[in-house]
Amino acid sequence: MGQNDQIMRFETLPDIPSSEHPEHQWLKNEAETTVTEKVAELDVGLDLDRHPEVRARLAGIGAHFEDSLAMARIIRTIYGELRDGLELVDEGPERLMRAAVLHDIGKSGPPGKENAFHSAVRRLFIPPNRPFNPYVDGRTKTIAEFAVEQDMNGRDAIFAALQAEGIAADREPMINFWRRHAEWTLGILQADSGPDVDADLAKIAASHHLLIENQNPARLDLRHVPAEAQVLEVLEEADLLEAVDKYQALRSRSKLGHEAALDRLSQIIGSRTDLPEVLRDKFHRVIEVLGRSKDALDRYFDKRRSG
Ligand SMILES: [Fe+2]
Ligand SMILES: [Fe+2]
Repeated sequence: MGQNDQIMRFETLPDIPSSEHPEHQWLKNEAETTVTEKVAELDVGLDLDRHPEVRARLAGIGAHFEDSLAMARIIRTIYGELRDGLELVDEGPERLMRAAVLHDIGKSGPPGKENAFHSAVRRLFIPPNRPFNPYVDGRTKTIAEFAVEQDMNGRDAIFAALQAEGIAADREPMINFWRRHAEWTLGILQADSGPDVDADLAKIAASHHLLIENQNPARLDLRHVPAEAQVLEVLEEADLLEAVDKYQALRSRSKLGHEAALDRLSQIIGSRTDLPEVLRDKFHRVIEVLGRSKDALDRYFDKRRSG
C-alpha cells in the first residue's frame, strides 16, 4: 500500500471538482496532504495542522498554489539583497515567504462555509486554456463572455451560483471578478489567524494588487505616505510582494524571459507617477535586485523560455 501511496501522490495540485463529483472528497484529501507536505518542506514556520481552514483553502487553488510556492522560493533566493537594498526589518525571509504562500488564497472564494459559490469561484480561477484578453474594443468582457470563450462546461450552474451571491455573469466584467480575490485573502487569513499568520501579515498578503491594480482591502492609506513606521513597513512589504508576484506571473504565465519581464515591470511602475514616490522607489529597487539574480531565478522557470 505504501508504494501505491507514492504513486498516487500529486506532483502538482489537482483542480478540485464540485462536492457532487464522485472524486471530490478523495481529490480534496490528496490536495490537502500535498499542500501540507510542500509547505512543511519550505520550513517557514507555517504549521498547517494548526490552520485547517487555511490548508483547505490552499488545497483549492490548484496552479496558483504552485505559483505561490515559486514566489516564496524567489523571495528566499534574493532575500539577502532585498534586506540590504530595502532596509527590511526581519533578519530572515520566513515571514515574507509565509505572506507569499498565502497571498492568493482568496482564489478559493470568500471566507465562510463552503457552498456552490466556492466551486464556481474555483472554476473561474483555473488558468484559462486559451489565451484570454479581458478587454475587447476598449471595453471589459463579462464573466459570461469568458466562460463562452473558454468553452467551459456547466456554465449555467456556475452562473446560477454567482447569481445567488448577487453577481450577474452577463454584466460583471471578468477582470473585476478576478480582482475580488485580494479581499477574500484578507477575510480568510483574519478568520484563521495565529502567531504565524498575524494581523499585519494578513494585510501584507492581501495588498499584493494595491499599487498596480488599486486593490486595497486592508484600507492602507496611500495618501499620507510616508506614514507612521508600522504602516509604512506593511506598505513596503506589500510592495515587494507585488513586484515579485508580477515578475513570477510574467515569467510563468506570460512566458516572458528574464529581461523582458524586468522591462515590463519597469514600464508598469514607471507609468504610475500618481503613486507615492517612496513606494515607486522601493518597487524599482526590487526590480534591480531581481535583475542581478538572473541565474538564480532562471531555475524556477521553464528552461526553453528563459533568457
Ligand atoms: Fe493575486
Ligand atoms: Fe499571485
